[in-house]
Amino acid sequence: MCNYYRQNLNSTKLFQVYQTKYPRIKRYLNEEIDFVCRNLHGNEKVLEVGAGYGRVIKKLAPFSASVVGIDISESTVDLGKDYIKECMNCNIQVMDVYNLAFDEEFDVVLCLQNGLSAMKGQPMHLIEQCIKALTPGGKAYFSTYSPKFWKHRMTWFHEQEANGLLGEIDLEKTKDGTIVCKDGFSAITFSEDTLKELGEESGCYYRIEEVDESSLFLILEKTE
Ligand SMILES: C[S@@+](CC[C@H](N)C(=O)[O-])C[C@H]1O[C@@H](n2cnc3c(N)ncnc32)[C@H](O)[C@@H]1O
Repeated sequence: MCNYYRQNLNSTKLFQVYQTKYPRIKRYLNEEIDFVCRNLHGNEKVLEVGAGYGRVIKKLAPFSASVVGIDISESTVDLGKDYIKECMNCNIQVMDVYNLAFDEEFDVVLCLQNGLSAMKGQPMHLIEQCIKALTPGGKAYFSTYSPKFWKHRMTWFHEQEANGLLGEIDLEKTKDGTIVCKDGFSAITFSEDTLKELGEESGCYYRIEEVDESSLFLILEKTE
């Protein structure tokens, strides 16, 4: 299956996405990670799926026992190995979230920055993979965009378009939380109701939390 991030938006291009000039976007990105840090005790083994070049891993390193990141893009992981080289309790490797191969279990699994959309596939299938990687009592965090953030999100995506990181945005198809570009990129979002349905279907204890009027989090706790 075509994976836009593996084929197009990888390595230094993905890095540039996060070098935004807009303070409101920087705040959103920081608040999303700070929310996770506030929920950590410092002794957790953390797995981040779709970890990109390690942007989140580097920030979480001082707040966790260890952080492992996996990403499907070889070139993004190559960049990530250098980006996190000073974080002795972290590593990053090439792996498909739909084919996780770990002998260990994790206390926390993260799927941030609208990862439920970025990793395509069936969201429930992705959630199941993350739950499998958790130790009993462990927690998984999935974040998507709050609908309140749409205007700012569009500003950010127009910046990416102007910088040649994404194709031309298809303004006819781009609406209601979905962004479509004419080169094949697309990103959806998940409403609070949909997150609730996913939480119910997971069979885990779950809660939904809005952060900073920019992110919506689904947080699952593995019960058995
Ligand atoms: C929006 S980026 C987010 C990167 C990182 N979480 C961050 O916030 O900086 C999504 C990432 O998911 C990765 N990805 C997409 N499909 C994947 C898959 N099936 N398995 C693992 N990673 C995947 C992409 O290569 C990309 O680096």
